[in-house]
Amino acid sequence: MSKRVSGFSKFSIEEKTRWLARNYFKDENTGISILKQYLNQDQKLQDLHNEFIENTISNFYIPYAIAPNFIINGQTYALPMAIEESSVVAAASLVAKFWSNRGGFKAEVVSTIKVGQVHFMFVEDFQKLTSYFNNVKSQLIESTNSITQNMRKRGGGIIDIELRNKTSELKNYYQLHVTFETVDSMGANFINSCLEVIANTFKNESIKIVMSILSNYVPECLVKAEVSCNVDDFFVDNGAYYAQKFVQAVQIANVEPYRAVTHNKGIMNGIDAIVLATGNDFRAVAAGAHAYASRSGKYKSLTHAKIENGKFHFWIEIPLSLGTVGGLTKLHPLAKLSLEILQQPSAKELMQIIAVAGLAQNFAALKALTTTGIQQGHMKMHLMNILNQMEANLNEKRIIIEKFEGKTVSHNAIAKALHTLRTENLI
Ligand code: MEV
Repeated sequence: MSKRVSGFSKFSIEEKTRWLARNYFKDENTGISILKQYLNQDQKLQDLHNEFIENTISNFYIPYAIAPNFIINGQTYALPMAIEESSVVAAASLVAKFWSNRGGFKAEVVSTIKVGQVHFMFVEDFQKLTSYFNNVKSQLIESTNSITQNMRKRGGGIIDIELRNKTSELKNYYQLHVTFETVDSMGANFINSCLEVIANTFKNESIKIVMSILSNYVPECLVKAEVSCNVDDFFVDNGAYYAQKFVQAVQIANVEPYRAVTHNKGIMNGIDAIVLATGNDFRAVAAGAHAYASRSGKYKSLTHAKIENGKFHFWIEIPLSLGTVGGLTKLHPLAKLSLEILQQPSAKELMQIIAVAGLAQNFAALKALTTTGIQQGHMKMHLMNILNQMEANLNEKRIIIEKFEGKTVSHNAIAKALHTLRTENLI
C-alpha cells in the first residue's frame, strides 16, 4: 500500500489522524485515543497550538517545573524549567540553595551584537567590488529604513555592514557581514528581513546573491556568570581537597573533547530548560554555544574554574541570543507566564538568568562526579521512571521508594524488588 499522500496540510485534524492511523498505527484505536488524550479540551487554546506549526495532530508534553532560591545579582528568582530529564531540576534547586548561603551568583552581559550575512559570488576584480560597496553602503542601510524604524526607536537597528573577501576559502565567494542590535527581541525575523532588502539593493549583473540569513553564531552576544567562596566552605570537610578535584574536572574538559561534550551537555540541561520555558529558540542557543566552545579550533569547556588565595572561583562565558518580546514569548501562555515568574526580564536580564542556570547545572554535575559519583542522584530521580515503566501502582511505588531510601538504585534491583512484592502478595 502506498503511504504517499497529497493535500495533507488541508486535512482537518481528524482526517490527518485517521490517515495516520490507517497507514502507520499497529492498533488504530489506541493510537487515535493517545493523540486525542493530549489534545487540549479548551478549543481556543488548542487552535493556538495548532497554528504554531503546520500539520499539528496533538501536543507533546514535557514537564514544566520550578527551581527556586536562585540569588542572582542580589535578587531572588524562581526559575521555570521545561525538561524531561529526571535529575535536572532537583540538581538546580540544590545548587541554588548551596550558593544562596555563599553570596549567590553574579552575572553580567558583556555584549549584545547579533550577526547576519548576505552570501554572494563575484568573478571580477575585488577593487571594483570594494568601490561599489563603499558607494552603496549608506543606500543599503537606508533601504531598510521602513523595517528598522521601530527597532531604532527602541535603541536597536543595524550597527554596521562590512564587505568580507572569502575567496581564499571558496572561489569567488564574498559576503556582506551585517551586525545588529535587537534590544529585547531575539531578532531572527527582523535580521532576515533586513538582509533580504539589503541583498536586493546590493545585487547587480555581476553580483550573484546565493542567500541571505542570520547567523546563530553570536560570539559577541555574550554573558558571564560566576560564583566564588572560600575553599573551606566548598565542602563539609576537606573543602580544599574537593575544590581542587573540581578544578581538575574543569581542566580535563578543557583538554579532552570527549569529556568536554558531556560537560557542556550538562550545562545545556540548565540552559535549554529555561530557553524552552520562555518560548525561546533552544536549537539556535545550542548551536551557538557549541560553536563558541570550539572557537579556538578545539572543542572545550564553556565553564572555567580556579583556586586563588584560598578562594574557589567558578564561572561561565556563553553566547546567548534571546528575546523577551516577540515570537512565542507572548503567544504561548506558559512562555508568557515564565517571563512573569522571572519578573518580566529584559533580554539582557534573561541572558544573565539563563547563564546562571547553565553554571549551576555544571556545578551540580561536577560536584557529584568528583564526590559521590553521578549515579546515586541520577538513579534516585530515575526510580520513579523505572516504577512507571513497570506500571507500579501507588502502593507499590510507596513501598519500593521506602525500601530504596539511601540505597543504590538499579533497574535490576527495582525489577527484582517489585517482582518479590507482587509474587509474595505483600500488597
Ligand atoms: C547528564 O544529562 C549530564 C551529565 O553527564 C553532565 C556531566 O557529565 O558533566 C551529568
